[in-house]
Amino acid sequence: MTTTTPAADAPVQDAGHPSDGPDLRAEGLRLAYDDRVVVRDLDLVVPPGRVTAIVGANACGKSTLLRALARLLTPRAGAVRLDGRAVHAIPTRDLAQRLGILPQGPVAPEGLTVVDLVTRGRSPHQTWWRQWSKADEQAVHGALAATGLTELAGRAVDELSGGQRQRAWIAMAVAQGTPVLLLDEPTTYLDLAHQIDVLDLVTDLNRREGRTIVMVLHDLNHACRYADHVIAMKEGRIVTEGPPAEVVTAATVEDIFGLRCHVTTDPVSGTPLVIPVGRHHDTAAAG
Ligand SMILES: Nc1ncnc2c1ncn2[C@@H]1O[C@H](COP(=O)(O)OP(=O)(O)OP(=O)(O)O)[C@@H](O)[C@H]1O
Ligand SMILES: [Mg+2]
Repeated sequence: MTTTTPAADAPVQDAGHPSDGPDLRAEGLRLAYDDRVVVRDLDLVVPPGRVTAIVGANACGKSTLLRALARLLTPRAGAVRLDGRAVHAIPTRDLAQRLGILPQGPVAPEGLTVVDLVTRGRSPHQTWWRQWSKADEQAVHGALAATGLTELAGRAVDELSGGQRQRAWIAMAVAQGTPVLLLDEPTTYLDLAHQIDVLDLVTDLNRREGRTIVMVLHDLNHACRYADHVIAMKEGRIVTEGPPAEVVTAATVEDIFGLRCHVTTDPVSGTPLVIPVGRHHDTAAAG
């Protein structure tokens, strides 16, 4: 993923784990739908220049939190700040140049082609005096290539398979070239090889371009492998957060999912590997 052009203010890093980058944080956040409060009193500092994974049971508020970070949801109390400024006070184009989001279950307009969708990712970079540029072209082609979609560029998004469609949305978010990228379940619908491709791509975006990534993941083993920082949520609150080895323990998994498991070491990455027990394998697990 070398051809995607990051926004002009994106920090560029060589490799490893960059430590500087955008300051995205939430303070005293309360999020609700009508009368139902989903997230309360939540404080969060997104580690800049790192990959963060948010994990937790269905309906615990992960997507709600991510949407609030991207200003798609207005907090009832508290604020989300990007580089010290409340995101609700940042002009839309300015925010779209600095922060991109792949929401859960996005829907493309009927008949929109893959290349058109990915091209839309570049619109925050265009103005009436600077329209389509070489950088835009490179970003779109780079994102299509990185997600394996070059061959499908002319196809309608609504006629693709679930996994192909998911990759098209990821390509759009990648092409946007923002220093902060929020991804809600980016690996949903993808076969195992494409899941790893996408997570490797996310790692490239972080290590090569210094992008700050926050992604919601259901696969705890992927979260442990690919994130520097894991946030475990339960019922709208952060239960614990930190490096994968500290957060992803049998006790935490039992607490947030009500699931007994063993946690061993991933032989490939050396990170925690969660092995669920389940009702039918209880005996084997007892020892
Ligand atoms: N648009 C909405 N209107 C009303 N309630 C909503 C809306 N979106 C989410 N909720 C409710 O808010 C709560 C949190 O939902 P959210 O989508 O944040 O969960 P999640 O952790 O992302 O779950 P999942 O793992 O299933 O994606 C749920 O109880 C859900 O029913
Ligand atoms: Mg969700």
